[in-house]
Formats: sequence, C-alpha cells, structure tokens
Amino acid sequence: MKKVKVLFSEKKIKNKVNKIAKLINKDFRNKKLVIVSVLSGSVVFCSDIIRKLKIDFEIDFIRVASYKGKKSFGKIRLLCDTSLNMKGKDVLLVEDICDTGKTLSYVKNLFFKKKVSSVKFCVLIDKKIKKCKDIKIDYCGFKINDDFVVGYGLDYNGKYRGLPYIGVI
Ligand code: IMP
Ligand code: MG
Repeated sequence: MKKVKVLFSEKKIKNKVNKIAKLINKDFRNKKLVIVSVLSGSVVFCSDIIRKLKIDFEIDFIRVASYKGKKSFGKIRLLCDTSLNMKGKDVLLVEDICDTGKTLSYVKNLFFKKKVSSVKFCVLIDKKIKKCKDIKIDYCGFKINDDFVVGYGLDYNGKYRGLPYIGVI
C-alpha cells in the first residue's frame, strides 16, 4: 500500500458521526425511516451512524457502478437493488462520497419510482465541484476540493477501505 496522508483523523470522524446522528435522531422521529447504504464504500460510515441512533429504522443496501467514459459524467448501472418494500417510506441514503452527484441522482430517481415518501442524503464527504442540479446533500460530514481520498470505507482499486481515518494518497 502507498503512504497515506491523514486528512480527517479517527477522532474528527467520530465527532462528526455523533453530530450527524443527533440530527437524524431529531429529524426522523415518528417517520418511517429506511436507511439505505450504498455498497461498498458507505458500510463503515453507515455502521457507525446506526449505532448512534435512538429511533426506529429499517436498513437496506444498494449497489451501483459508475463508468467514467469520455463524457464528463459517468453512466450508472444498477448491480444490486434494495429488497424491502419502499412504498411510503422515508429513505435516508447513506453514501461515502459525492463527486459529480450522478450516483445520488440516479438512486433518487430509482426510489421515487418505488413510490417512497421522501429521500434524503447523508454523505460522508462532499467534493466541491459542479453537481447535478437536483442534488442537495442533507447531512454532510466533510467538504473537500478535488482530492482523491481513501480510508474509512473509501477505496482506491479496492484497497484502503479498512483505514480508521480518511487520507490522501
Ligand atoms: P459520482 O457519481 O460522480 O458522485 O461519484 C460517486 C462515486 O465515485 C462514489 O460513490 C465513489 O465510489 C467514487 N469516488 C469519487 N471520488 C472518490 C474518492 O475521492 N475516493 C474514492 N472513491 C471516490
Ligand atoms: Mg460509492
């Protein structure tokens, strides 16, 4: 593995997770919350978030692949869909990182086709680049410039997901 420069320490992430979980506890009280974790990158973040929740929720998973072709935006392909009945539910989509917003936009449309009541986004890292117009991040951990980051679930060619901190290679 290449050397990784720490960007957000374990302690910083823990504090941020606590803050976000507090907001979710407040905002989703008495809602029909389904947390959907986008595989594989968000599992670490998501598992830390849910252990801080004091409200009822169900959990589900979705897997998508994004292809960066010659165009500036990648094409998204659904590899594994959710399995719970989503009709009338309040979905909180948990994602590791939002780059162009193409993935979130795709998943949002997919959930509205499943007749959900609402969709909100909880994203560990938001890149400060131009986004798809329909994407607003409701719960954001950290904002970064255009760096490529790894750790705490985020990978580079499948590696570095197990690092307890977020760093740059
Ligand atoms: P988007 O669809 O352009 O927003 O891309 C989002 C996806 O690209 C994320 O779910 C990640 O899998 C991947 N990605 C984007 N930037 C990074 C990064 O800095 N590190 C690791 N994965 C990234
Ligand atoms: Mg991802």
